[in-house]
Amino acid sequence: MAGQQRVALVSGGARGIGAAIAARLAEGGWRVVVADRDEAPPPPGGRAVMADVADEGAVGALVRGIHVEEGRLDGLVCNAGFMLRKPLGALTLGEWNSVLATNLTSTFLLVRAAEAMLRAAHGAVVTIASTRARQSEPDTESYAASKGGLVALSHALAISLGPDVRVNCISPGWIHTRGSAPRPEDHIQHPAGRVGRVEDVAALAAWLLGPDSGFVTGGDFVVDGGMVRKMIYAE
Ligand SMILES: NC(=O)c1ccc[n+]([C@@H]2O[C@H](COP(=O)([O-])OP(=O)(O)OC[C@H]3O[C@@H](n4cnc5c(N)ncnc54)[C@H](O)[C@@H]3O)[C@@H](O)[C@H]2O)c1
Repeated sequence: MAGQQRVALVSGGARGIGAAIAARLAEGGWRVVVADRDEAPPPPGGRAVMADVADEGAVGALVRGIHVEEGRLDGLVCNAGFMLRKPLGALTLGEWNSVLATNLTSTFLLVRAAEAMLRAAHGAVVTIASTRARQSEPDTESYAASKGGLVALSHALAISLGPDVRVNCISPGWIHTRGSAPRPEDHIQHPAGRVGRVEDVAALAAWLLGPDSGFVTGGDFVVDGGMVRKMIYAE
């Protein structure tokens, strides 16, 4: 039986940006279900499920579990993703397919499985793409292609699912999640004066899932401290 509390599902919520989005939503009163292929601590008041969101059967079981346990789904954050850096000639078809499966196909699988619950709740979807949909370093073809596809899939879904469900995409730039701290020059090169934090993405995701963004759908929000707007000419 569906309760009054809004329910959100966050894929890839065990760490990094996904964990910050889950925490932010829980703080905002949502019941949050985190799905990750790794074990994750449950967000406050919510639960964590181990699932590979690139796998159709696992996504079906995950969404059926929410139907049974929570009885509703108001927000879906398609965040799970990873990058493979490999020279084109060494990139296998299997590796290419695995990046596309997690970074792009998982959103198709999740939204398709959750469509009925999202429509019933007049809910919202947020996808996490990347500024690498627009600009590239060498040896990142599979990642760039997956994120470019995700930007396009997001606006296609916004048109198909409206007016019941809003769908928006966030394209983060450099967001510090782990490893050594960024250097002073890493911060300074950004027009905003610093490298991004997970909270920068979480705040926008929470707004896009909430009622204050009711007139916003099909959008693609770049959260990169201004880097894609910065023109760089080598000397
Ligand atoms: N950190 C950045 O600078 C940055 C920039 C642009 C875009 N992004 C995107 O943001 C998202 C989160 O990135 P992050 O930096 O927090 O990464 P992260 O590696 O810290 O976290 C990603 C999480 O996704 C999970 N995951 C990966 N594949 C999965 C699968 N098939 N099924 C279930 N869970 C899976 C991982 O276990 C991990 O917990 C990714 O989609 C990434 O491409 C990150």
